[in-house]
Amino acid sequence: MDFTTKLNHLVAQVETALDRLVPAHPGVEPGPARIHEAMRYTLRAGGKRLRPVLALSAAELFRPVATSVGEWPSAEPAAVALECIHTYSLVHDDLPCMDNDDLRRGRPTAHKQFDEATALLAGDALLTHAFLLLSTRYASDPRLATALVRELADAAGSARLVGGQMQDLLAEKKSDATAGELEFIHLNKTAAMLEASLVMGGLVGGADDTSLTRLRAAGRHLGLAFQIIDDILDATADSATLGKTAGKDAKSGKTTYVSLHGLDTARRLASEQTDSALAALRSLPGDTTFLLDLARSMLSRAK
Ligand code: IPE
Ligand code: IPE
Ligand code: MG
Ligand code: MG
Ligand code: MG
Repeated sequence: MDFTTKLNHLVAQVETALDRLVPAHPGVEPGPARIHEAMRYTLRAGGKRLRPVLALSAAELFRPVATSVGEWPSAEPAAVALECIHTYSLVHDDLPCMDNDDLRRGRPTAHKQFDEATALLAGDALLTHAFLLLSTRYASDPRLATALVRELADAAGSARLVGGQMQDLLAEKKSDATAGELEFIHLNKTAAMLEASLVMGGLVGGADDTSLTRLRAAGRHLGLAFQIIDDILDATADSATLGKTAGKDAKSGKTTYVSLHGLDTARRLASEQTDSALAALRSLPGDTTFLLDLARSMLSRAK
């Protein structure tokens, strides 16, 4: 299977799993329909689905080909949990008190479509739902469930995703932000979740500690490259292509790889981080062809 076919296949698998594993139907799910509509509004709007695709393809590396799939836990609930956390972080990132954005995944942001309180609650509910999924869908293997909850809680918590978002806001309009401070922001607001995606896939697949360490290293480098490219696209692409507001970082006075290093150096640094991610991926067992192609494709992405 070539890269694009495999990617489309995995994204379709993610879409189906999201539909199945996230509360929907008013009247069937308990609770007000409005909160479930708001949760699904941004979640089902599309997006690259990078984190769940990383988790599914990392799990696949460790499964003996001869073994029937039924004997292994599915990586789908872990993949959906990752996308729930990621989407909550986008919904909150767009709120007026944070980046104050109107456009996300090609649609009005959740607070524009609904209202601020509903967007806030939808983010809260997506965050919480991720842990409900992990604790219920892996309950038959308590060690795995605990490891997944711990990994995701660590990545999403105050030391990582939330800490990175805090520092990102603190660095706004800060003219003397250092390269080290900026790396802290990118490592935590973005790379933490890419690390967790690969590691959680590895955990479901039964990876040993050496492989988990290598997956984490790959996620860290891929995450840094990914956020550097996000900064570059914000400065160089248009809103229609991105599905979110272009040129926002400069307007808000954000400290980014572009503002601190310039476009050319930012491109070089993204390429170096991608090379490091490729080296870490190559050290893994199994057929890494797809993950290598995915890492390369993220460097030249248009959105
Ligand atoms: C946007 O993430 C936020 C960052 C961490 C850069 P993505 O670029 O993965 O957004 P979607 O999921 O494709 O919409
Ligand atoms: C946000 O970074 C990363 C998150 C954890 C959501 P950005 O603020 O640069 O993300 P975009 O550009 O709005 O997607
Ligand atoms: Mg932000
Ligand atoms: Mg933003
Ligand atoms: Mg951005």
